[in-house]
Amino acid sequence: MTRYRYPSIPEAQVTPRELFESRRRFLNTGLALGAAAIAPGLLWPRSSYAWQGALEARIDSELPSHDLAGGEAPTSLRDITTYNNFYELGTGKRDPEIYGHQLVTDPWSLTIDGEVDKAGTFALEDVLRHQELEERIYRLRCVEAWSKVVPWIGFPLAKLLERHEPTSRARYVVFESIHDPDSLRGQRRSVLDWPYREVLRIDEAMHPLTLLAVGLYGEILPNQSGAPIRLVVPWKYGFKSIKSIIRISLVEERLPSSWEERNPEEYGFYANVNPQVDHPRWSQARERRIGESGRRETLMFNGYAEEVAHLYAGMDLQRHY
Ligand code: MTE
Repeated sequence: MTRYRYPSIPEAQVTPRELFESRRRFLNTGLALGAAAIAPGLLWPRSSYAWQGALEARIDSELPSHDLAGGEAPTSLRDITTYNNFYELGTGKRDPEIYGHQLVTDPWSLTIDGEVDKAGTFALEDVLRHQELEERIYRLRCVEAWSKVVPWIGFPLAKLLERHEPTSRARYVVFESIHDPDSLRGQRRSVLDWPYREVLRIDEAMHPLTLLAVGLYGEILPNQSGAPIRLVVPWKYGFKSIKSIIRISLVEERLPSSWEERNPEEYGFYANVNPQVDHPRWSQARERRIGESGRRETLMFNGYAEEVAHLYAGMDLQRHY
């Protein structure tokens, strides 16, 4: 795959990739050495790096790329990976990068259960083996009125759900993040009722824009971005795009998402990007693109109205925010 094939990114914005890579090599080596120190004589189990190695090899090959951000240059890798929301690692924007090593991602398994004919818990490498990867460049708009353009690598969530054969009773899809307060410093504070949970209607989950991301910028996902597998729903506020997913359950009855449960006035179930419905504490009419000065107009459904507006036909979007 040709890397950094976005000529429109000004030189100054391009994150030193060597830095990023050497940090990753350092982290991997550090983890392996740490394990050896804890269990001398024991080799790191071979399967432990199974998904990372296999995924890196696939990302290195030529992947189809789709620009779904109207030709806008992606935000720099540095900005995408140093300005994050990942409360399991802390509430500061730099915390997810600084404490990303607390998230142990390999081995990783994903449980798919509830209203499906083929439920089970699967090693991540087995989940990924069946999926065709592609690059998709999307806008990401946070409810806090900042935004990014991210070149994700992943596959449509629908492709995964179809393999597990949802029953006719499956009306909602519930996603759950890792829960590991011993390792994840942020989960020792009750900012949310952990684990982080998100919920989509089944038609939203099956929409072709809804992506499961496993990489960005031609690399496997860095921990702060939600490694090893996260959701990306580009027409909704970023909090719906749940990180580090361990479980996907198809259910009949709607459950509240973590943020909705914490504060339903501020975080609605739908959370569709809508410049006409303000958050109680701030306007949603404009946004700050990370890495840029000034503010730009926020677009209805984050610019994806043509693709998704029909999902909400006839609904009062002031009420169903
Ligand atoms: N997922 C988990 N598990 N924990 C989080 O704190 N934050 C959400 C979302 N997914 C969050 C999460 C919020 S508020 C946003 S805006 C996006 O992740 C941010 O994604 P980014 O850090 O990759 O830009």
